[in-house]
Amino acid sequence: MHKLLEDRHGRKASYMRVSVTDRCNLQCTYCAGEGQTFIPHPIILRYEEILDLMGLAVNLGVEKVRFTGGEPFVRKGFGDFMIRAAEQFPTLDLCVTTNATLVGKYVDSLADAGIKRVNISLDTLDPAKFQSITGNDLFHTVRSNIDRCLEAGMKVKVNAVAMKGVNDDELPAFIDFARNNKLDMRFIEFMPVGLETGWKGDAVWTAEEILSQAQNLADIKPVTDEEGGQHGPARMFSIEGGKGRLGLISPYTNHFCGTCNRLRLTSDGNLRTCLFSDKVYRLRPVLRHPKLGLQAVEKILRRASRHKPMGHELLERMPAGQGVCRTRMASIGG
Ligand code: GTP
Ligand code: 5AD
Repeated sequence: MHKLLEDRHGRKASYMRVSVTDRCNLQCTYCAGEGQTFIPHPIILRYEEILDLMGLAVNLGVEKVRFTGGEPFVRKGFGDFMIRAAEQFPTLDLCVTTNATLVGKYVDSLADAGIKRVNISLDTLDPAKFQSITGNDLFHTVRSNIDRCLEAGMKVKVNAVAMKGVNDDELPAFIDFARNNKLDMRFIEFMPVGLETGWKGDAVWTAEEILSQAQNLADIKPVTDEEGGQHGPARMFSIEGGKGRLGLISPYTNHFCGTCNRLRLTSDGNLRTCLFSDKVYRLRPVLRHPKLGLQAVEKILRRASRHKPMGHELLERMPAGQGVCRTRMASIGG
């Protein structure tokens, strides 16, 4: 293996999030924004190009790749592509974040290909509210696809963006959901990523507030480190007598920048080293240049990794009432 990707603070890049499309079949209030435009098809990376970049990243120490969107299954051929990626990189931890509206028919073949983990975005357990948040009437599809993933033996994490005035009245229902299903129910603090997302400080339902409210509703205990208590960005909690667990992700009130191990690749081939920074490294023209290609991309990856910022510094300097970066969450991939 070549020398690994490491930054000036000693953080190693071992996890790459790859957005395969910025398009989505849902229009969630906090993500879509008014008058959005989409990346034109010719500058979207082809699947072969994504595989080449994954191969390079793996050689440089990346051990986990998560496909994201928009909604990844909106892109034609994505299910087959993921299976192909699993065959090509058998030792890679390969996973996907999806809204689970379109995943149903792929569940068995993904599980057969060894894809064992899926993260599903679902911000409410109320079908009418689902319609008002996402603009679509697909709650029951998502709910039954969660069951299909569980039946196929997948490890399922459900992500809800925690928003005051939107879903903070549903904590008892979310706790019951985790109690009755073998999954991780995770709450993500609403982040000021992208403009026009309706973000404001008083809409952030903080992890500490959720924790103290949950403690009044159920007998919950922190999961120890040995049992995977701090898994990725989430702090995990068990529920007495429950099948599933609760998780809290607190990027806003308690950032985890010091241990960040991520790189992000957008669907048009821009590398981002921090969710909160608009700084991008344009890999596509280099990758497609007849005289440059992967060797030149490797140099950019190394340079970019070295200069990875501490995202919380950007968050702290965020002008009041604005997003920390201009780019929409849907085109970064979360
Ligand atoms: P696993 O740990 O493998 O389950 O993945 P994950 O939790 O990293 O993936 P997922 O796509 O489910 O992301 C969960 C949430 O955490 C998303 O809202 C992400 O934007 C947020 N998140 C993930 N990585 C970062 C990060 O580096 N910084 C910040 N601030 N938030 C992040
Ligand atoms: N704040 C927090 N989480 C967000 N997500 C999308 N936008 C935001 C935001 N502004 C979540 C999605 C998905 C994950 C990758 O990021 O719901 O579950």
